[in-house]
This record gives sequence, structure tokens and C-alpha cells, in this order.
Amino acid sequence: MIKVITYGTFDLFHEGHYRLLQRAKALGDYLIVGVTTEAYDKTRGKLNVVDSLTTRIENIKKTGFADEVIIEEAAGQKFNDIKKYHIDVFTVGSDWVGCFDYLRDYCKVVYLERTKNISSTMLREQNSRIQRIGIIGTGRIAQRFIPEAKLVSGISTQGVYNPHEESVREFAGKWEINGYTDLDEFYETIDSVYIASPHETHYGYIKSALEHGKHVLCEKPMVLQKAQAEELFEYAEMRGRILFEGIKTAYCPGFTRLLGIACSGTIGNIRNVEACFTKLEKPDSRELTDLSFGGSFTELGSYVMFPVLKLLGENIEDIRFDSIRDERGLDLFTRAVMTYPGNMGMATVTCGLGVKSEGRLLIAGTKGYIVVEAPWWKTSYFEVHYENQDEVEKYSERFLGDGLRYEISDFLTMINGVGKSGFKLTRSESITLAGVMEEFMRCARKSMDFDIRLK
Ligand code: CTP
Repeated sequence: MIKVITYGTFDLFHEGHYRLLQRAKALGDYLIVGVTTEAYDKTRGKLNVVDSLTTRIENIKKTGFADEVIIEEAAGQKFNDIKKYHIDVFTVGSDWVGCFDYLRDYCKVVYLERTKNISSTMLREQNSRIQRIGIIGTGRIAQRFIPEAKLVSGISTQGVYNPHEESVREFAGKWEINGYTDLDEFYETIDSVYIASPHETHYGYIKSALEHGKHVLCEKPMVLQKAQAEELFEYAEMRGRILFEGIKTAYCPGFTRLLGIACSGTIGNIRNVEACFTKLEKPDSRELTDLSFGGSFTELGSYVMFPVLKLLGENIEDIRFDSIRDERGLDLFTRAVMTYPGNMGMATVTCGLGVKSEGRLLIAGTKGYIVVEAPWWKTSYFEVHYENQDEVEKYSERFLGDGLRYEISDFLTMINGVGKSGFKLTRSESITLAGVMEEFMRCARKSMDFDIRLK
């Protein structure tokens, strides 16, 4: 009996897939089809697969060509499958010519002519009109957005807005997009916005973008007041638009995996979370010169607070902030200590722009702990430890590029109504984060007033 194997995602099952399976089956007597998991697709940069794994498997089964369906979940699996299933022929479409020649030592490799003018990417784009996105702001994060957005199919960066003509001209020229200094004109050309302007301008821009019927992806911290966050989410809902806070850790595959493991009871009940993120900035950076809204907690607080809310919940009983400030009162290093009701949990988060620390995430439970070293906010590797020090479980996930692509892809799926990623950073978590920022600003003002009175 000749055994044939082929692999693919088979999203939005189409004629090209059908013809490939038909010809693959004809190469032998028994056909095994390997279907990729969503997690594996994410690691190889295929970010907006629409159909669930079960739907994709059902569609393959319906053709009647597959004698067996297996799951492909990691790179390097093909080599092992060929041995394990005693495969005689490996086949894929001609878009892969040359890529699998290394398997020739183990079986016959056949590249089948790809069916012309059809692909899942094409169907995804047809089903959901390309989102034309515009950027508000021309700073460093805005610069990172464009190359990452290019990797997400279904989105196209159309233009950039900044009230300062020179900044907008320079940015638009560099990235070959349209530049606008007039907000109304800018809105006319787009369906959604990415807001990467200074923190204190977010509220106004989000409101005006929603007023103009745009979906909004806003950099963290989305806003600095709880009531503003509540108002904006309600407004977005009323207008039928998506409002999405961009904390990239929330959307990175490694962190999603970590949460799954931490919340599955592996380390028992979670009792303590410690998260640290420090970044030494240039003295002339906005973060170190903006005395009203700069400083470490407004800049990095969303990152360190995020795992705390995910792991211990939003019901913080008490929060206390301590900061080291420079002579102008700018927050160089902040520590926030939180407790949860009934002595059931506590957390310490630290962040700094003027103090360097190790930048670790530590999650302690009643049975063990999870540790993620810096840069944990771009999670790619973590370890689970237990009382027995020899018992260590190690997990790794790929983290591609700057990671913004995951966030952009999830924003897009929310717009397109697939909505599978809403749980990653909920509306309620974003509102709680705004409340924490508000409390920090209130405490900071109070302690600075106190210092002034002492002098
Ligand atoms: N395939 C084909 N003809 C097409 C599309 C796909 O023969 N028009 C083949 C691929 O070469 C592969 C298999 O079908 O062997 C599964 O491909 P997959 O990557 O799932 O489909 P695509 O339509 O290429 O998906 P995407 O656009 O997401 O890359």
C-alpha cells in the first residue's frame, strides 16, 4: 500500500484545496492530511485564519479523499510524521517548490501544480473589505506600526495625521503614505485609526475618531481616568465600533499560553505576582521631559499591571504607590503594592525609566511558581518550578518581529466580527487599568504637594 501525506491550513476551504487533495490521493492508496493548529500558524506568521481547527478538519473530511487527518502543531514535525506513519510520498502545492527537498532522503517528494487564482488569503480579503487604517502620531511607536501592519493581510496603512506639518511631511515621506494636518480630511480616507500620540491626547482623539465612525486601536495607557474609559467604551458600543487598547503582551502567543498554564491549576492557587519592567531612556525623550504625563508608571505601568489583573483579577482591595522622582518631580522609578480581599493574593509591580532592574515576571502559587525573564512582555520562554527543584517544565513560543502584528491581527478579527480575541484584554480590564492610572496620578499629585509644603 502506498501511503501519501500532505499538510496545510485549509482555511475557508476552496477549489484549490479540493483539487490538491484529489491529486494527492491519486498518488497512492492511503492519504493522511496534516492540518495546522491556530497556535502553529501564529508562530509561522499566518495570523488571521478564520475557520476553527474543527471546521477545517470537517471540510477536509467532507471531500472523502482523506483516510486520516492529523494535527500539525510544530515546525520539524513533518520529518517525524514521515517515519512514524511509514510514508512513501510527501506532497504539497507548487508554491512550496524546493522547500521540502530535504525529505527526499526519506520518501518521494511531489510538488503539485497550484490551482490558479484562488487562495485563502484572497478569500479572506474578499470576505472582509481591506481595512484602511490611519495613524495619529508620528513618534517611535508609530514608526514601528507600519512594517508590522504590512505582515497582516487585510489591512493597509493609508495615511498619517499630526498637527505639526514638518513631522507629518517627514513621516509620510519616509513610509510613502499620505500625510494630513487636517483631522477631517484624514478621517475621510480611512476606516480605522491607530492612536500613537502622547497619552493625554488619547481621550480627545478616541472620541473624535468614534464620532467619525472609525474603529480605534489606541496605544496604552488608553486613558488616564476610569470615567473616561467607561464613557468611551459605551460610546464605541453605541456607534457599533471597536475600541481596542494596544498592550501588545496581551496578544502575543507566548503570553496567552502562559496564562492558560497559570490558570489551569498547575501551580495551584495563585497568591503573588511580581512584575518588573525598566527601560533607560535618553534624557531628552518625551518620557523624561514631560513633567505632567511622562515618567515610568504612565509609560510602563500598563505592562506590569496587565499580568496582575489577568492572574489575580480586577478586585484590588488596596493599592499603594512609592516613587523615586528627580528634582523636577518626574517619576523615575515606581513601585505599586496591591492586596486582594481576604488575604488571598498580593502583587508588587515596579517600573523604571531612570533605574535599571532585571525585569522579571514571577507568579507564585500554592503548588509552584512560574518565572519569565525579561523581556517577559514579549513572552517567548518561561519555566514552571515546583518544590522539587529538579522538576522544571520549560515552554517556548516564537515571538516574531516587534510583536505588534499580533495586536493588529486581533484588532482586525474583532472588526471583522470574528471576535475570538476579545478575552485577551477585556473592556473591564482596560477600565480597571485606567482607574489604576488615575489613582497613581492622584497619589503622585498628593505626594508632590506634600513635598512642596515641606520645602
Ligand atoms: N493549494 C493549491 N492551490 C491553491 C491554494 C492552495 O494547490 N490555489 C495547496 C497549497 O499549495 C497547499 C494546500 O493547498 O499544499 C494547503 O494550502 P493552504 O496554505 O492551506 O492554502 P492557501 O490558499 O495557499 O492559503 P493562504 O492563502 O492562507 O496561504
